[in-house]
Amino acid sequence: MPWEILKWIGLIVIMLFAGTAFTGAPFVPSRRKELEIIFKKLYKLSKNDLLVDLGSGDGKVLKAASDFGARALGIELNPILVLFSKLRFISNPRIKIKMNDFFRSNLPAETTAVYVFGDGRDMKRIIAKVEEQAQKLKRPLFLISHAFEVPGYKPEKTCRAYFLYKIEPKSK
Ligand SMILES: C[S@@+](CC[C@H](N)C(=O)[O-])C[C@H]1O[C@@H](n2cnc3c(N)ncnc32)[C@H](O)[C@@H]1O
Repeated sequence: MPWEILKWIGLIVIMLFAGTAFTGAPFVPSRRKELEIIFKKLYKLSKNDLLVDLGSGDGKVLKAASDFGARALGIELNPILVLFSKLRFISNPRIKIKMNDFFRSNLPAETTAVYVFGDGRDMKRIIAKVEEQAQKLKRPLFLISHAFEVPGYKPEKTCRAYFLYKIEPKSK
C-alpha cells in the first residue's frame, strides 16, 4: 500500500515538472557563480532595483539579487518550486514569490529589471509581455535573458550566455 501512495506522489511530481514544458521552459537552474558575474558586469544590481524573475524555479536568481541588496520577486507556476522557495526565503523580507503564469501577471510598479531563463520558442511572447508592461509603467525596463537572444532587438551588452536589453514602452 505505501508503494501505491509513493507511486502516485512520484507521478504527480513528474507531471508538475514536465507540465511546465507546455507553458514555458522546464526547470533548469542558473548558475550561482555566473549570476554574481552578470549582476556586476552586465547589469549592475543595487539596492534601488526590484528584479523580477519570470519563472523563478528554486529561487537561485532571487537569492543572488538579494545578496546584491536588491529586492526580488519570483513568478513561478510549479507549486513544488513555489513552496520550496517560499520556505527557503521565509525570513528574507526582500524576496517575494508569487505562484502564477508569468504571461498572465503584471509586474509591480517599482520593477526596474526582469530576468528570464526561458525557452527560445517563447522569446517573442516574453518580449511582447515586457513591452506591454513597460508601456503600462510608461518607462523602459531592463531585460536580462539567459541563453536566448531576443528576436528583433540588439542587446545593449552581452556577457557569457547572457544578453541585456533595454525595452522601451511599446503599445500593442
Ligand atoms: C529554465 S528554469 C529557470 C529557473 C530560474 N529562473 C533560474 O534561472 O535558476 C524555468 C522556470 O520557469 C518556470 N515556468 C515555465 N513556464 C512558466 C510560466 N508560464 N509561468 C511561470 N513559470 C513558468 C518553470 O517551472 C521553471 O522553474
